[in-house]
Amino acid sequence: MVLQESVDAIVKEFTVDSAKLEELTNHFIKSIEEGLEHAPGEKSKGLPMIPTFVTSIPNGRERGVFLAADLGGTNFRVCSVELKGNSTFKLEQLKNRIPDDLLEAETSEELFGYLAKKIAQFVDKYHPTGSTDTTGKLKLGFTFSYPVDQTSLSSGTLIRWTKGFKIQDTVGKDVVKLLQDQLDKIKCPVDIVALANDTVGTLLSHAYSSGASPNGNQGDTVIGAIFGTGTNGCYMEPLEAIKKLDPELVKELKSKGVTHMVINTEWGSFDNELKHLPNTVYDQNIDKVSSNPGYHMFEKRVSGMFMGEILRQVLVEIHSKGDIFTQYFEYDELPHRLRTPFELDSEVLSHIEIDDSTNLRETELSLLQSLRLPTTIEERKAIQAIVRAISRRAAYLAAVPLAAILIRTKALDGYHKEVEIGVDGSVVEYYPGFRSMIRHALALSPIGPDGERSVHIQIAKDGSGVGAALCASTVN
Ligand code: BGC
Repeated sequence: MVLQESVDAIVKEFTVDSAKLEELTNHFIKSIEEGLEHAPGEKSKGLPMIPTFVTSIPNGRERGVFLAADLGGTNFRVCSVELKGNSTFKLEQLKNRIPDDLLEAETSEELFGYLAKKIAQFVDKYHPTGSTDTTGKLKLGFTFSYPVDQTSLSSGTLIRWTKGFKIQDTVGKDVVKLLQDQLDKIKCPVDIVALANDTVGTLLSHAYSSGASPNGNQGDTVIGAIFGTGTNGCYMEPLEAIKKLDPELVKELKSKGVTHMVINTEWGSFDNELKHLPNTVYDQNIDKVSSNPGYHMFEKRVSGMFMGEILRQVLVEIHSKGDIFTQYFEYDELPHRLRTPFELDSEVLSHIEIDDSTNLRETELSLLQSLRLPTTIEERKAIQAIVRAISRRAAYLAAVPLAAILIRTKALDGYHKEVEIGVDGSVVEYYPGFRSMIRHALALSPIGPDGERSVHIQIAKDGSGVGAALCASTVN
């Protein structure tokens, strides 16, 4: 086959049309219902739908100084957040790239010992005198961006790692206890009072910054979502819909006037059974080389961790047919980096996506630099078309959970209703056009163009840190 034909076939395979969007949105709504419905202890069907024990959304008037620690996909951030009570905040932070060897550490202590050390360094620098309250300890909200079975606002056991971590020893353990033990060991004066997923942090911080009310008024923050190394989202459900909650707890919460709880959907795991998601041969290969085969199938088609790897898989496949990089006869002759899984960063795709330089010179340099891969102009045009197909599919799929949750919560019902979605993450923040592609897809989805016009997708800058601080602020 000639290169152009190969490319056309791939672009077609990556196309998500409005019929597919409708099919996926309906399946997502069903997966929400199934995920909420099963009784405690019963084997989970549908989405994980994890209760977070966060029962209200900030109104912007919260105050105080809190620490936040955020273990995300590639970085560990420690922050000190001063909530000023007027929807604004001041933030100091230290960001550390997680050393590669810790991703596959033998014991939890190695990772959590490292995290505790970084928190202690931060405290020494920014809070050398500790806390002024009676305990002498600083309150910390811990943003832990992995699936956790949350057992209270400040405890939860790891269900499984995602985004490249592979420390088997941590699975099934309480991640707050693991970190607190290490902090206590080095006598760091910090009390972890809240555990939050990054999506919950994003929801809360966006609500704080926009001063939205939780009562269904115009401009409510309905969803907190992450499109970065991983992807996930959360939103509020009425207590009675969360069938998996202990009925005693529901009764107790209701007696205190609580009506809703934030649910961490863990939508990265949407349709792990692959009944409806597109499933190309490249997706199948990626699943095989991933650290969690069979899980997080939605994430593997949408998030930044995988977009580069999808492109790499596609290029290797076209090469095997003899349609590209023909100076290399055998697979083994291809540049080493092109043969290495996860070597191609999605940042490279973001440069190729918008390259309009003469002869795609930027793309040429980008590929030389990242993969040591020389290309012809025909090859670069082909690669750009493939990159655009991969990112468009990712963004179109990203619209599915948003449309589904807006429908499920009836957030768009009502006269000229406007809703806000707080988002964070490298892809939605930096990938050129990602947000507008999500919007195109929302207009094609069952919420239609009218629905799409009522939705505001806004970046919640520093969302997870500020959100963790907000969680900590609810603890007396
Ligand atoms: C994790 C989620 C997290 C998301 C975004 C996923 O891999 O399972 O808990 O919210 O990444 O960081």
